[in-house]
Amino acid sequence: MTRHFLRDDDLTAAEQAEILDLAVRLKQERWAAQPLAGPQTVAVIFDKSSTRTRVSFAVGIADLGGSPLIISTANSQLGGKETPADTARVLERMVSAIVWRTYAQSGLEEMAAGTTVPVVNALSDDFHPCQLLADLLTIREHKGELAGLTVAFLGDGASNMAQSYVLAGALAGMHVRIASPEEFAPDAAVVADGQALGASTGGSVTLFTDAQAAVAGADVVVTDTWVSMGKEDEKAHRVATFGSYRVDAALMALAAPDAVFMHCLPADRGYEVTADVIDGAQSIIWDEAENRLHAQKALLVWLLAQNAGAAA
Ligand code: CP
Ligand code: NVA
Repeated sequence: MTRHFLRDDDLTAAEQAEILDLAVRLKQERWAAQPLAGPQTVAVIFDKSSTRTRVSFAVGIADLGGSPLIISTANSQLGGKETPADTARVLERMVSAIVWRTYAQSGLEEMAAGTTVPVVNALSDDFHPCQLLADLLTIREHKGELAGLTVAFLGDGASNMAQSYVLAGALAGMHVRIASPEEFAPDAAVVADGQALGASTGGSVTLFTDAQAAVAGADVVVTDTWVSMGKEDEKAHRVATFGSYRVDAALMALAAPDAVFMHCLPADRGYEVTADVIDGAQSIIWDEAENRLHAQKALLVWLLAQNAGAAA
């Protein structure tokens, strides 16, 4: 069976830790692994805009000795005339892996079901698992251990970032708190999955509507845009609804004294976070952005090794 990475819990807790350990090594020795030398090609497909994901995959694939092929769906057949499954059947004859940023999680599932090469979710409406590998790597660098830490995510609890925190944080043994208006709570099935993972790792998932209660004593405070890609039509309602979840200095003061602030970027200063917090001493956003490179390289090395093992 080909291993894919469509959502955070496609990895076991041990596999997640193994990939983070590998990311630390690849960050120290940037060209230590060259599984794509030859070079092999990895297709990286975008239905939505991107800066970090595009650059970190392109550079990372090149670091691994491979050749990135960046495709915009706007000028390909995918999303128009051709299904994800048919696209994957063609690509697998030519590339070693497929990375895809898209809207529906079901499209990724359809693509993965139809191909023998690994498919990686580079952000969907439901999850952003590559970002979470980078976030966990960054938290580990700043805090040492992940297990037992409390992370508070504020804002759109139904967003890809919040839902990935539910799964990946619980998998890492963290106590995940999501603070959002009830209308924007994470999907109940995702919460149940996160809580089940937490029961086996010593972590937990708790939903809040009160931002202050969620942040109290937290080791990590996270937010994200209130208007994710594809939700632009709802901007006025979202801005009117999320005001009490804005991360400002008063809210940060309720967290642990050595708490760090994170944001996957791009950020809307003055909306989900004030400039003094995101640009202040507790913010680790630039380490977080850089770690996309190292975490995704580790993921690709690991996935390709799994699938080479399965084929042998
Ligand atoms: N954080 C993130 O995924 O950024 P991009 O949208 O720029 O890729
Ligand atoms: N939640 C945001 C993340 C951007 C990287 C979005 O989906 O637009």
